[in-house]
Amino acid sequence: MAHVTRRNFLGTASLAAAGAAMGPWVRRAGAQAGPVKIGLVLPYSGVYAVLGESITQGMELVFARENWTVGGRKIEMIKEDDEMQPPVGIRKTEKLIDSDKVDILTGPVHSGILMGMRDKVHNSKTILIVSNAGADAISRERCSKWIFRTSFSNWQPNQPMGEWVAKHVSKDVFIAAPNYQAGKDQLGAFKETFVPAGGKLVGEDYPKLGETDYAPYLTKIRQSGAKAVYAFFSGSDAVNFVKQYDQFGLKQSIKLTGAGFLTEPDVLPAQGKSALGVITGHFYTPLLDNPTNQRFVKEFQAKFGGKMPDGFACQGYDTAEVIVRALKAVNGNTQDKPKLVEVIEKSEFDSPRGRFRFDPKTHNVIQPFIYIREVREVAGGINNVPIDRVANVTDPGTGCTLPRPPPLPLWTGAARPGWSRGDDPQRFRGSACRVICLRRR
Ligand code: BEZ
Repeated sequence: MAHVTRRNFLGTASLAAAGAAMGPWVRRAGAQAGPVKIGLVLPYSGVYAVLGESITQGMELVFARENWTVGGRKIEMIKEDDEMQPPVGIRKTEKLIDSDKVDILTGPVHSGILMGMRDKVHNSKTILIVSNAGADAISRERCSKWIFRTSFSNWQPNQPMGEWVAKHVSKDVFIAAPNYQAGKDQLGAFKETFVPAGGKLVGEDYPKLGETDYAPYLTKIRQSGAKAVYAFFSGSDAVNFVKQYDQFGLKQSIKLTGAGFLTEPDVLPAQGKSALGVITGHFYTPLLDNPTNQRFVKEFQAKFGGKMPDGFACQGYDTAEVIVRALKAVNGNTQDKPKLVEVIEKSEFDSPRGRFRFDPKTHNVIQPFIYIREVREVAGGINNVPIDRVANVTDPGTGCTLPRPPPLPLWTGAARPGWSRGDDPQRFRGSACRVICLRRR
């Protein structure tokens, strides 16, 4: 039996007492030796496969910079292909939460998949950092304390474009987008400012997501009398639509405009000269001349075989940057979820797109700028040249109530508005209740 002196007995006893007084938060931090698991629900096949790849690469760039270790813990990415199918995306989300027990979830690309994942994420109190899907409802009536979005709401790149197109391109416009939630959201946002600016919608159409033959739609556009088209397509849909628009002979007579996804660098090489002259609105272009972006473009190209980063890669970069900063702030302790939410909310840093911050009312990113860009031939190839911009584009967040709760007086024991009793870290406050406070956190 070990010999217990009075001195080491007292030392051991006071350490134990200190541990009890500090509560489980501190003890758990030491026990978290495993990797931080980050689950990715992204399309690695199908129409939006190139988007999933760019987001993943943007994240890998940041984690590689940190040597895949943050807050004393290894970073492990668990990638799941949602195959662009909402039931598959939901199943993969459940697997990542229930079996893999991920610390943080990111993705998806498809708005319908995000809507399907939302309740599982919210009810399981899993932190989701949306790295693409723009479903407006997630910043509005379906917002959640546990959900952040580093990409955009579908409204953001499109709402400024309605007025811009009416003023600078034409008032007779045909609009088109794939027939699902993102298509409806994006064109709805365009209409919001296009019509009040005197614009007339001469037609609108919603081909299926993944359409490969746009001829019937292009025929309608030709016959509509439109002077311009405003379109949202992305991934292989954007390649097919832009190429066929040109092959159909519409490019010279009916100006093609749209949401930025239509001509992102993920699709520009396949679109080639068919994309020249297309005008789109987006929060990013690799041609931005801020130092963070210049470094990002250089490092991204060096790591990924000369590939030009797109907005999706910037979203992945910002998602990983938010994660890295939050993990550093909590010293790698991912068990205290309300604390993680609190530090993520405060994220602020220089992103390739400009100064990055979340709107505390919605947890959606505030776009420093929406750039109006024209596809031109520049040094280094075909790219999106900024020709105008609109500052501080913030989703209206209608119907979302994520209050920044005011602190409660001491010892009330009640939760603040917007928090359930069990979740609220400030339910008990003050030095006299240190043990209870720490247990509650
Ligand atoms: C969406 O489904 O939300 C989406 C997909 C591709 C690009 C932009 C938005």
